[in-house]
Amino acid sequence: MKILLLGSGGRESAIAKKISESRLTDKLFISPGNVGMKEWGECVSIGDDFEKIGDFCKKEKVDILVVGPEQPLVDGISDWFSNDKDLKGITVIGPKKKGAMLEGSKDFSKAFMNKYNIPTAKYKTFGVNDLEEAKEFLKTLKPPYVLKADGLAAGKGVLIINDLLEAEKELDNMLLDKKFGKASEKVLIEEFLKGIECSVFVLTDGCSYKVLPVAKDYKRIGEKDTGLNTGGMGSVSPVPFADNMFMDKVEKNIIIPTIQGLQEENIDYKGFIFIGLMNVEQEPYVIEYNVRMGDPETESVFPRIKSDIVEAFNLIGQDRLKDYKLEIDDRVVTSVMLVSGGYPEHYEKGNVINGLDCLQDCIAFHAGTKENEKKEIVTNGGRVISITCFGDDMQKALNKCYENINKISWQAMYYRKDIGKDLMK
Ligand code: AMP
Ligand code: GLY
Repeated sequence: MKILLLGSGGRESAIAKKISESRLTDKLFISPGNVGMKEWGECVSIGDDFEKIGDFCKKEKVDILVVGPEQPLVDGISDWFSNDKDLKGITVIGPKKKGAMLEGSKDFSKAFMNKYNIPTAKYKTFGVNDLEEAKEFLKTLKPPYVLKADGLAAGKGVLIINDLLEAEKELDNMLLDKKFGKASEKVLIEEFLKGIECSVFVLTDGCSYKVLPVAKDYKRIGEKDTGLNTGGMGSVSPVPFADNMFMDKVEKNIIIPTIQGLQEENIDYKGFIFIGLMNVEQEPYVIEYNVRMGDPETESVFPRIKSDIVEAFNLIGQDRLKDYKLEIDDRVVTSVMLVSGGYPEHYEKGNVINGLDCLQDCIAFHAGTKENEKKEIVTNGGRVISITCFGDDMQKALNKCYENINKISWQAMYYRKDIGKDLMK
């Protein structure tokens, strides 16, 4: 089969590697990909235009389109393919626009959760005309206050604020001054949930579903989860607290009602559902849905999938995912993200990365890298490479990650040394 994967980050690197290992894959194209992904497929630069992506698929007779990031899904790439007579036979892994609203509109997703009795924090949504009411509502809550822009805001649209006056000011910023543009035309105020987070991934054809390995990501730049939010500093899979009892609750209270809800809403959903969960005293609550895999969770989740992922994609195209036998590796996988010093604020690009050819028993999933004119691999983003290793337990996997990281260097490389530590008490 011929497959086109859209994306260029660590997540897509992990997906590309897995696709390349399938006996069903004849050819993998990745647009735009990155220098590290060349090992697993042919990188092409088609751009974001759906028509061009469609033309490429027609020309190359692509069978399966795998959409890595959320933006093309929210913008309707799946609808585009299903509305074109020459493209509708292609299996698109990723929901249509309506399903993508689970991620694209927090107001939509919270209303969906409430309608289908899916446990989540209490909330109310406000527009610019309800500003006074919103401030009154804030006063009825205990701090910290959780404010969320309704739409996509590049991962920055959630504010957690301890002080009431500051929260009121931020409400003004979001609703009156459109701090996040169109995304904050509506703002959700949510009850704060205290607990520890994990990420659950479900692959579905809209009817049946398979639960992929659970993971935890580390979002903040600083150790012990301090400092600014990032695109993710590392991940581990599995998550010790997400034991069978917890996962049974997740399946019964969250996954099954989510799939049933999608069916009742006539949302034909083929692809990944990423459920961001808060574990509140061993009870799972949904923080958010995403309509794609997580980054950097995928770097720890995908290596643990032993069965053929392309077979799953193919079965999704035939509405037969129920026939897929998902096999999971029992070992632990940990991923540590190497980032450019200064990230997530100002950082340099173009620094030569040394030591990549010395790595042992480890996978380097490239994110922000490229080749310079001298054919050296250089940094090309904030998050540069995920170093991913297996181990019989979390400590062993982490030891291997950090041993390999010691062999890699570039000017102002930074990483967190405490990935997984909070889970190993
Ligand atoms: P979201 O974009 O909805 O995932 O929110 C970003 C992050 O904010 C989450 O990963 C949580 O760490 C935090 N968060 C969001 N909603 C809540 C909530 N209701 N209670 C506590 N933390 C939250
Ligand atoms: N790791 C969180 C996300 O991908 O949104």
